[in-house]
Amino acid sequence: MDILIRPETENDYFENETVTREAFWNLYVPGCNEHYLVYVLRKHADYLTEFSFVAEYQNKIIGNIFYARSHVINEHNQRKDTLTFGPVSVLPEFQRKGVGSAMIGHTVEIAKQKNYPAIIIYGSPSNYCKHGFKSCKDYQISTKDGRYPYSMLVLELQKDVFQNHSWKYYDSPVYDIQDAEVEEYDKRFPPKAKEYRYTQEEFAIAIRASL
Ligand SMILES: CC(C)(COP(=O)(O)OP(=O)(O)OC[C@H]1O[C@@H](n2cnc3c(N)ncnc32)[C@H](O)[C@@H]1OP(=O)(O)O)[C@@H](O)C(=O)NCCC(=O)NCCS
Repeated sequence: MDILIRPETENDYFENETVTREAFWNLYVPGCNEHYLVYVLRKHADYLTEFSFVAEYQNKIIGNIFYARSHVINEHNQRKDTLTFGPVSVLPEFQRKGVGSAMIGHTVEIAKQKNYPAIIIYGSPSNYCKHGFKSCKDYQISTKDGRYPYSMLVLELQKDVFQNHSWKYYDSPVYDIQDAEVEEYDKRFPPKAKEYRYTQEEFAIAIRASL
């Protein structure tokens, strides 16, 4: 499939939020909040506009990826600025054709060029280990409260950059989304039924699991 990966422009904003809504709808919870996350992320201090890309096929956006600032702090209070991506979305009918991999690969190369030490995300290992992500526990990077969540994954971009220390991960507060705000914002889109899917159960298990 011949796709073009290019930076997001202002003209893409609503179309991109629609793509994200379609990709996530009913997948992890009934409905979704990721399209609202894209909307608020662009206005947030932690937003990294130079990492926003869309995948185009026949002049139509079929996927997108967004990044935010994050950081880790070690036991000596030394800090490293890291990257976090999410949401990453591909329209359901174009999934499993390499589009997500292409967007991740493209932005990982930019992250390396800009000398970021790592990308740290919350996501399903089945989506990201194939891109080189490993468990946060392999790098002694925990949450603020010392847990190693199953879904907290690290792509090391500078070899051994976390070695011989233990770290705590701080993601951007932009990811703390309020349901009431999502409800209001979602009225901008055509109505869509919120329904149960078994994938919501898998997600509920995964987010409670720690190593
Ligand atoms: C997760 C997501 C971004 C991945 O994007 P994608 O374009 O579907 O991913 P890819 O096609 O690059 O890779 C997915 C699979 O397709 C396979 N694939 C890639 N190109 C292929 C091709 N041409 N033919 C057949 N299979 C192919 C990959 O090997 C991979 O297989 P695997 O899962 O068995 O390892 C996308 O599925 C999505 O938007 N999902 C819903 C939202 C979501 O969950 N986002 C991530 C939150 S953590």
